[in-house]
Amino acid sequence: MAIYLNGQFMPIEEAKVSVLDRGFIFGDGVYEVIPVYSRNAFRLEEHMRRLQHSLDGIKLANPHSRAEWAAIINQLIARNAGEDQYLYLHITRGVAKRDHAFPKPPVAPTVFMMSSPLPSPPDSLLHSGIACITAPDNRWLRCDIKSIALLPNVLLRQMAVDAGCAETILIRNNEFMTEGAASNIFVVKNGTLLAPPKDNLMLPGITYDVVIELAAANGIPHEVRRISVAEIFDADELLLTSSTKEVLPITQLDGKPVGTGKPGAMFAKLHKLYQDFKRDVMRK
Ligand code: PDD
Repeated sequence: MAIYLNGQFMPIEEAKVSVLDRGFIFGDGVYEVIPVYSRNAFRLEEHMRRLQHSLDGIKLANPHSRAEWAAIINQLIARNAGEDQYLYLHITRGVAKRDHAFPKPPVAPTVFMMSSPLPSPPDSLLHSGIACITAPDNRWLRCDIKSIALLPNVLLRQMAVDAGCAETILIRNNEFMTEGAASNIFVVKNGTLLAPPKDNLMLPGITYDVVIELAAANGIPHEVRRISVAEIFDADELLLTSSTKEVLPITQLDGKPVGTGKPGAMFAKLHKLYQDFKRDVMRK
């Protein structure tokens, strides 16, 4: 497996980063996850825009132009096996003596990218759906930044795993749902698809955008607004989205069935639309 580190491609075993890297010491960096279908980076422009938003959020200069990023990304895809991959792209504020304040003058950022295989979710998950739990969203107030400091998300996801579940749905202020520990969440009620607003309390998912676009293009009623805790427990369906999970049905929440307890009609519709979109658009 070839990775990219600071201007060079190399086997992952040869990649080395200083222990003084601010990513290692402070979690001072941002990342992206970009799905690749038929060797095409999906929505590269949108991922680059979100990366720029994250970099601006942590006041770190973008080390590369769009054209440079595209060249690195295309080389990394070419050097790795598999038509479908996902790229993990990671930028930290670089290597400096340990001090919370930014290094002055700035040092070169650390830029790392790797590729992993991207399998479609297994049919078993699409047929049975996944189980989730809920937990208080105890993260900071800049969840729109795709920060590498993921300890809250790690602990929240582990709560789900410890409960034999797949994901934790996060509740802010005991009032409203924001997203999953590493995914976005949609609610379906009376045939309408409900999505939380893309504000500072959630990561603006690229898959989230695709699902809303597919709903809009296909006459599926949808609303973007705050979703109360009561609404997630009273939902007909709950759906989870992310670049690596696509669209999945959530059929159990905190040990109780969601709706009928089986994947519903909205899931079936959106899943088909997503698969058609993948075949006809993402692979081109
Ligand atoms: N996570 N919300 C959070 C907190 C996430 O970490 C992710 C993705 C999403 C979905 O975003 P997108 O549709 O662009 O993948 C929402 C990635 C996959 C990860 O950390 O591995």
